[in-house]
Amino acid sequence: MLELIRRNAIYVDGYKEYCQEFWDHDIRYFRPTNPALIDETWFERTKSWYDKKELGLICNQPVSFHYWAVDGANFVSEFQLRTELSEKVITGIGSIGYSVRITEQGKGYGTEILRQGLIIARGHQLEKVLLTINDQNTLSAHICEKLGDVLMDRIPAYNKDEGNHIM
Ligand SMILES: CC(C)(COP(=O)(O)OP(=O)(O)OC[C@H]1O[C@@H](n2cnc3c(N)ncnc32)[C@H](O)[C@@H]1OP(=O)(O)O)[C@@H](O)C(=O)NCCC(=O)NCCS
Repeated sequence: MLELIRRNAIYVDGYKEYCQEFWDHDIRYFRPTNPALIDETWFERTKSWYDKKELGLICNQPVSFHYWAVDGANFVSEFQLRTELSEKVITGIGSIGYSVRITEQGKGYGTEILRQGLIIARGHQLEKVLLTINDQNTLSAHICEKLGDVLMDRIPAYNKDEGNHIM
């Protein structure tokens, strides 16, 4: 059964495999941590950075909560919730980031992660969230619509990974 959990050192190997799959496929919509950086000390080394992010203590970074989605011993995905609608969030990264490892896609996990993620968002007293989706990412748009999300607008956007695009 899929569950969203807080980051946990016991899943680091799975997290690294998940990152590697995205890097190997050169996915542009979503760029997880460079797997080359994930070694035996990575989890401890980065823990305080993630803790500070939750408290809004990282300069130029929105308050952000990171979850990992696991199914038993299997690492499936990550889910990120940004609880402030800052300009950076509204015009770029959106309130939610989610993904499913390449080898686990098409099994319903993406839908379930977003469904559970929206419950977590409500737990943070968020009445609304904003997802900024590349117009070519029809899968993610489909999942959002299935869960009752409403298209607000289509606007031109730019970032380093995706270049000029419509979101
Ligand atoms: C978007 C993403 C999370 C979807 O994850 P997933 O686990 O494959 O999603 P699901 O299995 O829940 O499938 C969702 C829907 O897409 C459909 N679908 C899945 N794979 C498909 C494919 N290759 N072609 C067409 N439709 C497909 C499913 O049928 C399902 O629709 P349905 O429930 O109406 O039948 C995943 O593709 C991903 O991680 N992409 C890269 C990161 C990303 O884009 N994140 C979102 C940023 S906004």
